[in-house]
Amino acid sequence: MYVCLCHGVSDKKIKQLALEEGICDVRGIKQCTALGSQCGKCIKQTKEILNETVPILYQKVS
Ligand code: FES
Repeated sequence: MYVCLCHGVSDKKIKQLALEEGICDVRGIKQCTALGSQCGKCIKQTKEILNETVPILYQKVS
């Protein structure tokens, strides 16, 4: 599913960046993709996806 329609960034891509690259905040996702740089409507959903995904990352580490 596309989260950022303006730049074609999917939830899968956001989860991949979080779990494989350890990017845990919206700022980091924005630096790796163009997400949020146009209308900004995707920011809220990106935060929600990170809130679900980041705890999984910490489970993997511990
Ligand atoms: S939907 Fe992401 S900048 Fe517009």
